[in-house]
Amino acid sequence: MKAILITGGAGYIGSHICKALAKKGYEPITIDNLSTGNRSAVRWGPLYEGDIGDKKLVKTILEKYPVYGVIHLAAYSNVRESHQAPLKYYQNNVGATLSLLEVLLEMKVVPFVFSSTCAVYGMPQKVPIDESHPKNPINPYGESKLIVEKILQAIPELNCALLRYFNAAGADVEGEIGESHDPETHLIPLLIQTAMGKRETFTLNGEGHRTEDGTPIRDFIHVTDLALAHILALEKLIEKKESITLNLGTGIGYSVREVISHVEKKGKTKIPITVGGSFAGDPPILVANGDKAMKTLGWKPQYDLSTMIETAWNWHQEQVELIL
Ligand SMILES: NC(=O)c1ccc[n+]([C@@H]2O[C@H](COP(=O)([O-])OP(=O)(O)OC[C@H]3O[C@@H](n4cnc5c(N)ncnc54)[C@H](O)[C@@H]3O)[C@@H](O)[C@H]2O)c1
Repeated sequence: MKAILITGGAGYIGSHICKALAKKGYEPITIDNLSTGNRSAVRWGPLYEGDIGDKKLVKTILEKYPVYGVIHLAAYSNVRESHQAPLKYYQNNVGATLSLLEVLLEMKVVPFVFSSTCAVYGMPQKVPIDESHPKNPINPYGESKLIVEKILQAIPELNCALLRYFNAAGADVEGEIGESHDPETHLIPLLIQTAMGKRETFTLNGEGHRTEDGTPIRDFIHVTDLALAHILALEKLIEKKESITLNLGTGIGYSVREVISHVEKKGKTKIPITVGGSFAGDPPILVANGDKAMKTLGWKPQYDLSTMIETAWNWHQEQVELIL
């Protein structure tokens, strides 16, 4: 079995990638410090608990397994927190990545898939956003990802896939894993938890955006679709030995109000809403032009917003039943 090193494999997206890799006959090897991830999510392949900045640990893993490629997800990704603690973000997302890269280059492990983000684009000048859109991040999180993109592009011997995802959503369609953060900050889990009575109210951050219903519009992509795109990107890198930059989104935008309605419909309940202040750094609309990824990878997102909500709902329901 070909071993693939997954940094952040205990996290939401990483655990879904591990499952997809195992299904395709690869052996995912996770390195994760469990700062935001969950031990219980590592169900396919071993977990090395530790930091990607720990060169000795990374070297030990690379000496034990003939690693075929790396999928690098480990990072902090809370936009608002990145404003409050920028150094924490630069240190982890950039500093620790540099240490990881030093070991990978020393050990000559070159195919490298990087979790980037649509936050590298900043305020959109045109929508849908394609890969050539100017990159002007408006928060330290997005800036930290753009810095890593530039570092990766500056290393000639590294073949890398820069994958700029829009909003990952949903849970494993077979119900084995899902999204579980503490504290939770993502829209759909927060709405589901409120609909299930685990939270008193959902705070809607402002209704004054320049969109039809005043709430931000986002492009949600099912985490299983996202997982498959990583494997295809890795295989493409290995086959072509050429770096690629791709947006991963569906090209369809939904406003926060529309997502609320979908969750209410699924839960057959009205979600209590508190309207809070809007956040200056929230772009009104972020929707991908995903044509390049579809063409390059021969891939197409399979799951729509209803399935994202359905699978996430089932996952959360199961977590409630496990506690009872
Ligand atoms: N969730 C989204 O919608 C989204 C959108 C765009 C980009 N991304 C990127 O995708 C990646 C994964 O996101 P996620 O939503 O699964 O987040 P997550 O927090 O669930 O997963 C990140 C994982 O990385 C681990 N980690 C963090 N720093 C580490 C370090 N220094 N050493 C070892 N492990 C470390 C965490 O413990 C966690 O398990 C991140 O890089 C994020 O920036 C996510």
